[in-house]
Amino acid sequence: MKSERPLDTQVAIITGAGRGIGAAIARKLATMGATAVLCGRTRAALENTAQAIAQSQGRSEIIACDVTQVNSVEAAAKRVESAFGRIDILVNNAGIGGFGGPLHQLPPDAWEQILNTNLRGVFYTIRAFAPLMVKAGSGHIINISSLAGKNALPNGAAYAASKWGLNGLTYSVAEELRGQNIRVSVICPGSVNTELSPHTGKDPMKMLQPEDVAHALEMLVTQAPQSFVSEILLRPTQKP
Ligand SMILES: NC(=O)c1ccc[n+]([C@@H]2O[C@H](COP(=O)([O-])OP(=O)(O)OC[C@H]3O[C@@H](n4cnc5c(N)ncnc54)[C@H](OP(=O)(O)O)[C@@H]3O)[C@@H](O)[C@H]2O)c1
Repeated sequence: MKSERPLDTQVAIITGAGRGIGAAIARKLATMGATAVLCGRTRAALENTAQAIAQSQGRSEIIACDVTQVNSVEAAAKRVESAFGRIDILVNNAGIGGFGGPLHQLPPDAWEQILNTNLRGVFYTIRAFAPLMVKAGSGHIINISSLAGKNALPNGAAYAASKWGLNGLTYSVAEELRGQNIRVSVICPGSVNTELSPHTGKDPMKMLQPEDVAHALEMLVTQAPQSFVSEILLRPTQKP
């Protein structure tokens, strides 16, 4: 019989776990038995997620962490190593939007912020956490990208560039690590009903919900060990 808690004994770290998609993923992984390590910059938001997890008898740990700061990410990895001695699942979810207008009007510091969070931050977390997976000879890294990493996004070019970059990073790292039994996957959702952007003109009820992304991730982490789904494109059934 299939276990209801297939991730018992596993440790999963989720960046941007304080709200939106990251919070839904953390709740899902905790329900599946994993200890969810909740990362983000705002402790109060992480505490809300931890409380929801505790209410459903799940386990979690809070580590305040800014993925744009290499020292912050390395400190988080050291804490995970000393507290748990393992990391089974790394979910790179932290991200920011940027949909204000054409690229030639984008202030350079906004470009820096978007690329540093959505792309450089993933480099930092993989650099900090993958060695623990390599040592263990197993692991799963899941990057939350976007359909904006597959398509043109007028008035969101920097965001699209960060997500196209993230997809290229994911495919490449997947090849680097698959020989060491580490699976690297990417989920590319369409518009999700969160605080990332106002989604002006879209019907929130027709949009994807954070739980839809968490469900896709559940499918990834429950694949039999000899196979892995490298990419999921997730669309709302009806155009919002
Ligand atoms: N919503 C959509 O339509 C949509 C569609 C496709 C893909 N995505 C992707 O899904 C992911 C999650 O987005 P969301 O919609 O759930 O957005 P959200 O509700 O705005 O949540 C973003 C999360 O990322 C965290 N974060 C931001 N900067 C961070 C940093 N420097 N270090 C650590 N954590 C940071 C935020 O927490 P703090 O501010 O407290 O740090 C927050 O918890 C993003 O990568 C986004 O690009 C979203």
